[in-house]
Amino acid sequence: MDKSSYDPKRTPEQSIYEYILHSVCVSRLAGIVAEELGFEDAFRKDMELAGLLHDIGKGRSGELDFSGSGEDGLAKLDIDALRSSRTHPSLGYMILKEEGYSNFVANAVLYHHENYDGTGFPSNLRGKEIPVAARILRVCDTYAALITNRPYRRAFDPDTAMELMREDVKYFDMKVFLAFLTVMQEEKNQKLITRIIQSESTLEDLAWEQNIEMKEIDLLWQNLCRD
Ligand SMILES: [Fe+2]
Ligand SMILES: [Fe+2]
Repeated sequence: MDKSSYDPKRTPEQSIYEYILHSVCVSRLAGIVAEELGFEDAFRKDMELAGLLHDIGKGRSGELDFSGSGEDGLAKLDIDALRSSRTHPSLGYMILKEEGYSNFVANAVLYHHENYDGTGFPSNLRGKEIPVAARILRVCDTYAALITNRPYRRAFDPDTAMELMREDVKYFDMKVFLAFLTVMQEEKNQKLITRIIQSESTLEDLAWEQNIEMKEIDLLWQNLCRD
């Protein structure tokens, strides 16, 4: 798959592969930001797991089922898709509890779309009411989403993504956002993220390269494929 050219008519398998790359991106960023914030190793590992599985509910929510074309060939983000996009954190939580994951990981996933100013979903939590793990995911997920192609829009370059995040800084925990800015100033981290989003590796190789257990990649794949 050529990741450098954008093809709005991707196969479902390509879309799911891109979601897995997005998830790996969030996983690595969340681990690096947790480390920068001074959390211990066990916390960092749980953050990597939560980052990897944060969008696992998207298969059940039907959110990956984009159809139709908008202007300039991009798929249309219709009302149903918007509605289902709001259910994926709760569905993800349910899947992770069924699979025996910890409350830490399941709650990070449940609240990863809560905004610091209280405007997020599913529970309109505000500030420190939001678990810190979810506040870390919110920042890392936003960046990872902006720099990748989505069915309804093209990817932003890293500088533009950063600028857009600064404009919406009210959504983020400032301490987490500042830690994120610090780690993204390091060239090695920028290169790591670029390497992941441009990856054409098989899922097995990706797991090996990024030190991720294949059972988690399999779980993600199976759940994203489900409708
Ligand atoms: Fe999400
Ligand atoms: Fe995401």
